Amino acid sequence: MDVSRLIRPGIRKVRPYAPGKPVEEVQRELGLDDVIKLASNENPEPPLPAVLDAIADAAREINRYPDGSAYRLTRALAGHLGVDTRRILLGNGSNEVLDMLVRALVSPGENFVYSEHSFIVYALAGSVHFETGRAIPMQSGWRHDLAAMADAIDERTKLVIVCNPNNPTGTYSTREEFEAFYQRVPEDVVVAVDEAYYEYVVADDYPQILPMLDERPNLMVLRTFSKIHSLAGLRLGYGVGDPDLVGELQKTREPFNVNMIGQAAAIACLDHWDEVAPRARRNREQLEHMAAELAGLGFDVVPSQTNFVFCTLSGRSGGELAKELLQRGVIVRPMDAFGLPDGQGAVRISIGLPGENERCLSALREILG
Ligand SMILES: Cc1ncc(COP(=O)(O)O)c(C=O)c1O
Repeated sequence: MDVSRLIRPGIRKVRPYAPGKPVEEVQRELGLDDVIKLASNENPEPPLPAVLDAIADAAREINRYPDGSAYRLTRALAGHLGVDTRRILLGNGSNEVLDMLVRALVSPGENFVYSEHSFIVYALAGSVHFETGRAIPMQSGWRHDLAAMADAIDERTKLVIVCNPNNPTGTYSTREEFEAFYQRVPEDVVVAVDEAYYEYVVADDYPQILPMLDERPNLMVLRTFSKIHSLAGLRLGYGVGDPDLVGELQKTREPFNVNMIGQAAAIACLDHWDEVAPRARRNREQLEHMAAELAGLGFDVVPSQTNFVFCTLSGRSGGELAKELLQRGVIVRPMDAFGLPDGQGAVRISIGLPGENERCLSALREILG
């Protein structure tokens, strides 16, 4: 019997999420010893020593279930952000918070709006959840077209996701653009601003959403410990929003969605917040260096507010470029899964440690002759 027939038709059509290839897989498949991964926008620096200590301490207790309410972490995070604890929604990565939003807000036949060429999980959540996602084309410069996203809201729209800054393009929406957009959003539509790369942003006109939450109950901010804090492997993200909205969303959470080690590690990160700025600064130095060198190689490099660069090389296949880099032990992200046509030579390169970035550049020099 074909058991796939037992599955809802919507699920059968889903293209599974294709993550950046793990280093070990590439080593195994290509027989390479020395492989570097610049494909998943991770922080190339390990977690802080104090965070590793907290992890080791917490590991001694994992025969027990974690605190399902994450009492200590919720209080620490709320204190850090200067918000009421009832505003905090913790997730197994901010990925899970996105999923909770879609599942809790959007019924079959309704929809949520997001930008094309944005974080793949939005499209995935839509296809898994009754085909409810609607991707809106970008404007030039690889930027969200917030005006078109506001136009796309109809009486069946329950949620708009704004990825700011955007993955995979690194671009951002300005305060002015966001305000003009927000004024057009009906109050019964939730706007979730995905700020996974918030700590890396340097643009002066980037909109600060968190302080707006008091006045705007339909607004929610999503952030993560996966990027600047180097905890991608532990899966810990959060949403901040209206207490009543968060209270409802909490009902969709699995009982122990945030694991014990992640809770302890995140608290230690908050205790060492002064490390965030130097980490962001080191990233920016390398990002600027990479951007200049890639431009020198002929790439069109899109200015980035994140820990990755998105660049295109007209007339080349991005998939081929990524494959040639892979053969040289450098994993970058080809952009086909993000809906980009292959002939633009589009690749996304996460910023690594200085030596890793040099290795990526010299591989590219070799490939491009
Ligand atoms: C825009 C964006 N949102 C959310 C996430 C997911 O982060 P987390 O690891 O917290 O699930 C990512 C991860 O790459 C991302 O790029």
